[in-house]
Amino acid sequence: MAQQASTQGFEAPAMGEPYLLTPGPLTTAYSVKQAMLRDWGSWDGDFRAMTAELRRRLLALTGDAKNEYDCVPLQGSGSYCVEAMLGSFVPKDGKVLVLANGAYGLRAAQTMQYLDRAYTLIDKGDYLPPRGKEVEAALDADPAIMHVLVIHCETSSGILNPVGEIAEVVRAKGRKLLVDSMSAFGAIDLDVRDIRYEAMVSSANKCIEGVPGFGFVIAKKDALEAAKGNSHSLSLDVHAQWAAMEKTGQWRFTPPTHVVAAFLEALKMHEVEGGVAGRGARYTKNRDVVVAGMRELGFETLLSDRWLSPIIVTFFCPAHENFAFSRFYELMKEKGFIIYPGKLTVVDSFRVGCIGRMDEHVMRRVVQAARESLAEMQVASATPPANAIAERAKLAA
Ligand SMILES: Cc1ncc(COP(=O)(O)O)c(C=O)c1O
Repeated sequence: MAQQASTQGFEAPAMGEPYLLTPGPLTTAYSVKQAMLRDWGSWDGDFRAMTAELRRRLLALTGDAKNEYDCVPLQGSGSYCVEAMLGSFVPKDGKVLVLANGAYGLRAAQTMQYLDRAYTLIDKGDYLPPRGKEVEAALDADPAIMHVLVIHCETSSGILNPVGEIAEVVRAKGRKLLVDSMSAFGAIDLDVRDIRYEAMVSSANKCIEGVPGFGFVIAKKDALEAAKGNSHSLSLDVHAQWAAMEKTGQWRFTPPTHVVAAFLEALKMHEVEGGVAGRGARYTKNRDVVVAGMRELGFETLLSDRWLSPIIVTFFCPAHENFAFSRFYELMKEKGFIIYPGKLTVVDSFRVGCIGRMDEHVMRRVVQAARESLAEMQVASATPPANAIAERAKLAA
């Protein structure tokens, strides 16, 4: 099928499908999809070389100059990798401090329940960031806690959590940091020389711009060694996956071969774009264009600029009586853009993702589509209700 005309920067989605303004699966490049047209034997040397390259390229994004870390890809979605990380690095009699300010922190706590392992939860509600001081107090209060789990970008609100501040406290207190960098890795720096994590996870269909099908754990080699025998699960055992990959170059169980091929192409494109810095710069521009344009229409963001990630942005729904999110969603979709419902529990909101194969030109069209959709709904102003503004004041305070 012929590709559509370029929108000044990148090619438009080739099948004419809407852009995904969502945090993954996201809009991918044509060449990434094209890389899936070939079949690979999972045991064959060519595919083993692809797996080795994938691991090497991911490690190259970590700043691991001392060769202390290794990368372990794992079949499944991001949640599988979070579960694998918690089940493999936390000993059966260990205890984790889970820092939650949204759905993914809470899911990590739920995972600990399933694992039947001890944890303490600091739950900051929908979006308020966990801070170093409260982590310090929790660690001082409970010497049994050996691991702290933090969400890098809490995708449910789009907040960029203060991982550096938390990492500093965890290090000073002699504990170990686990990072869920699902939606941030590849676009936001997580250099091991600055943030000494024990292990982190991300997945194929986020900022590297691959398609869904696997995730990966990046962990200290000594932590991988020490993880032997900890896991509750055969298929989610990070140590076993690592040991088998080191020995045979193969995945333990059927790998998503086509997804790996697509991911390698995505990694090459990531490098060409300038790595983490280049990718992050494009997403930041995407965010700045969409936030400025939406604010001009009267929309307001949940977060002040200091906390906004370049990954996804939460906007309050307008107070206007004609506004209904479901209708707005359909009108935006008709214009070629799939937006995302909000996850706040206290006020109505929706989200716009800034990641994926799109640039500022596309984001300007998103703003234009929002303008037209409001006009069609006869919503004269996108100003949010007073309770939304009051809610936002909590973070500024
Ligand atoms: C921060 C974070 N953690 C975990 C997940 C879960 O990943 P998945 O939906 O691929 O299982 C997501 C998904 O968006 C996420 O953003």
